[in-house]
Amino acid sequence: MGTFAMTGGATGIGAAVREQLAAAGHDVIVVDIKDADIIADLSTPEGRQTAVDAITNKAPAGLDGFVPCAGVGPSVSPPSLVTRINYFGTVVLAEAMKPLLQKKNGCMVLISSNSAPMGSDAGYVDKCLSGDEAAATTSADEIGDGQNAYGGAKMALTRWMRRNSAAYAKDGVRMNAVAPGMTRTPLTEHVMADEKLGAAIKGFGETIPTGALGVPEQIANVITFLLSPKANFMCGSVVFADGGHDAMLRPDDF
Ligand SMILES: NC(=O)c1ccc[n+]([C@@H]2O[C@H](COP(=O)([O-])OP(=O)(O)OC[C@H]3O[C@@H](n4cnc5c(N)ncnc54)[C@H](O)[C@@H]3O)[C@@H](O)[C@H]2O)c1
Repeated sequence: MGTFAMTGGATGIGAAVREQLAAAGHDVIVVDIKDADIIADLSTPEGRQTAVDAITNKAPAGLDGFVPCAGVGPSVSPPSLVTRINYFGTVVLAEAMKPLLQKKNGCMVLISSNSAPMGSDAGYVDKCLSGDEAAATTSADEIGDGQNAYGGAKMALTRWMRRNSAAYAKDGVRMNAVAPGMTRTPLTEHVMADEKLGAAIKGFGETIPTGALGVPEQIANVITFLLSPKANFMCGSVVFADGGHDAMLRPDDF
């Protein structure tokens, strides 16, 4: 059986991934700010380094897969917290895990969102992709809009994956992303309870073509498939698991 590492395994989608991998008999190393094998705050450079060092110690022979799932929603304050965790906390770890994944011809599944193509400030997205965390976080807070910080960070993360997937594949590491739609997790509950964003997000949830919000297991099913050998010709793909929302909103864009 394999050895997998992941972040954000304490609740929601990550917890469902952890359960599915463990049920299949794999060893799972979980990084999270709470309830995890490795406690680390991925919003800070120090926390990211703690996570990288601890995973490397626990898996010296390498990793079969890595799923950076930790994230916060658009209702957190300040908006730059989203940038720090969802973009930089993900990409810094993804890059650091590459040598461990190479050892076992492993693969990585990133967590995008169907909000990534919904429109965000292009300059902010470029600042994330440039790797300049100070510029990107300043931009997020100057714009001051959680939805922009969130959707833009997911757009940047998805572009980072698409831009790097061919080079990673040549080095023996297969990368893909899943783009979940609205899924019932603590993150979504937090947004639905928000004074500013709550009504809009609840209304948006009511327009999901298949009729209901997703549940974490439905997203984890796609992630564990992408991690499996059954998906070994998939590389650089962005798989929408969103009850049809993206197809409804962007029917001709694929
Ligand atoms: N729920 C949705 O509708 C939805 C839709 C699209 C994408 N996503 C993405 O799915 C991923 C998982 O989200 P979820 O909905 O399961 O939310 P969640 O809140 O249940 O899980 C997020 C996890 O990240 C951890 N985390 C938060 N801040 C952290 C930090 N600073 N350092 C380390 N760990 C931290 C939390 O403790 C938690 O375990 C996120 O990347 C999110 O953006 C969720």
